[in-house]
Amino acid sequence: APKQDLINKNVLITAGPTIEAIDPVRFLSNRSTGKMGYALSEAAKSRGANVTLISGPTALKAPAGVEVISVTSAEEMYNRVMEHFKQNEIIIKSAAVSDYRPEIKAINKLKKQEGPLQINLVRNPDILYELGLNKGSKKIIGFAAETDNIIEYAKAKVAKKNLDLIVANDLTEEGSGFGSDTNAVYLIDSSYNIIKIDKMSKLDISHRILDKILDL
Ligand code: C5P
Repeated sequence: APKQDLINKNVLITAGPTIEAIDPVRFLSNRSTGKMGYALSEAAKSRGANVTLISGPTALKAPAGVEVISVTSAEEMYNRVMEHFKQNEIIIKSAAVSDYRPEIKAINKLKKQEGPLQINLVRNPDILYELGLNKGSKKIIGFAAETDNIIEYAKAKVAKKNLDLIVANDLTEEGSGFGSDTNAVYLIDSSYNIIKIDKMSKLDISHRILDKILDL
């Protein structure tokens, strides 16, 4: 059995994609499956934590004993995270939040028309950045998925979003990133110490991440 080193700790985890409606039947989203966040929830739960999982739409079953809050859009995720922020001391944001949403959600299904269609996109709130602004003694952990200059971009995000730790994914690496059951990541803390974790299951990666969080 895993060590019980998260007993009485309230851990908030976000997972999955967000989807941004264009009209009642169409949306913008991304390729996140939620596997990393669900694995983190399972790992934290197995170590004794009280886990709240705020999840975008996924095909996954929540681990037993984890409280799941289902959301669709980034704005909805933002609202739920802000509601639960206070009572959690560790917040892990593994969700792939859509950076943009259509400016207007059409009430009726859009009709085909001659020629191109333009959809105006506006920025979504950056949930993690907002959390970082007044995190106090909480531990805030972000994810970064990149195709190039991962370490550099990840360091910049740690600083900009006032994080304690970032988990950086190389999307170009085989067996890493969206949809995969395995991952290979770098853990970078706010002092820019780097731990490289070679390819392993997302559950094993989750335990490494939790070890590092407890070590911060
Ligand atoms: O999209 P980006 O690479 O900036 O994501 C880095 C981290 O910020 C991730 O942990 C992601 O969950 C979080 N994020 C967020 N709200 C956004 C965009 C990203 O919380 N609107």
